[in-house]
Amino acid sequence: MRMYKMLGLAVAIAAASTFALTGCGGKEAKTLVRVSHTQIETHPDHIGFVAFKNYIENKLGDKYEVQIFPNGSLGANEKVLELIKQGSVQFLSVSTANIESFDKVYAVFSVPYLFTSEKAYEAFISNPEVLDKLSVNAKADGFTAMAAYTAGTRNFYSKTPIKSVADLQGKKFRVQAGPTNVAMMNAFGAAATPMSFGEVYSALQQGVIDGAENNELALTDQKHGEVCKYFTYDGHQMCPDIVVGSKVFLDKLSDSDRKVFEDAAKAAQEAEFAAWHESVQKAKDQATKMGVEFINVDVNEFREKVLPLHEQLLKDNPAMKDLYDEAAAFNASHK
Ligand code: GCU
Repeated sequence: MRMYKMLGLAVAIAAASTFALTGCGGKEAKTLVRVSHTQIETHPDHIGFVAFKNYIENKLGDKYEVQIFPNGSLGANEKVLELIKQGSVQFLSVSTANIESFDKVYAVFSVPYLFTSEKAYEAFISNPEVLDKLSVNAKADGFTAMAAYTAGTRNFYSKTPIKSVADLQGKKFRVQAGPTNVAMMNAFGAAATPMSFGEVYSALQQGVIDGAENNELALTDQKHGEVCKYFTYDGHQMCPDIVVGSKVFLDKLSDSDRKVFEDAAKAAQEAEFAAWHESVQKAKDQATKMGVEFINVDVNEFREKVLPLHEQLLKDNPAMKDLYDEAAAFNASHK
């Protein structure tokens, strides 16, 4: 339902490079730092970015002003990634699925049941070496992975109850963009319909799709629970939102300023993690009041249906093998 009303603004921004804001009273000119995300202002991603802004402005407030654009107001993530590459938007939190078409390394998170526990997943995405491995193609991508926000576990939700894999057969489910998601959904026996996050509500309402898959917050923040009354805990994916920083912007910074931005990204991640689990609980309570039923299923049945896909996915995309193996090591050490 959400429309990207401010696309005109995004285009205007694309034309300009980071410009200086001249403070009044002859103060130093400040550089405006634009941060974009698609969530609402109570979402943990936004809370993370408020910590990011505060950290930078506390340390370097005389030089930088950080402005956060929530609700996809600068455009859908796929489009803002282009602006990041040009350097006209400096930071963005974006699902790994949306980065997959720019850089195949990020596809590793779309592999269904990559992680065996949320504990292993959270440790993995908090690990600086994992961020370095994700950033291996930073030069070509035009951005670096500065931090990773958790986005919990992705599960199916629908207008009719999904109690087993049989209930998915032939149904149209929205997935995030990217070939791995399409392959996963098709392996489950449903018809994959990739589309942007902001388009899902109206697609559900108009009957273009029968269901979607996400964490619990989509039911409330995006109001998908108004249309989908059944949420099934099958836990097929754990995909983080990566805080990407524009390389054009970062490369222009002095070493000491760059360190402040890197530390700010760490502070953002800590704030986001701290907000996450409470937000999920609140979303569950609110969704229950909206009439959404939460269904527990035999997760093994779902897992077994798509596990054979792993081999094919790795064959099609060898770029993710290193991180895939690393994830397996985290599963073994974080039981
Ligand atoms: C989650 C995630 C977003 C993503 C969205 C989606 O909300 O945090 O980054 O865009 O799912 O399904 O598109």
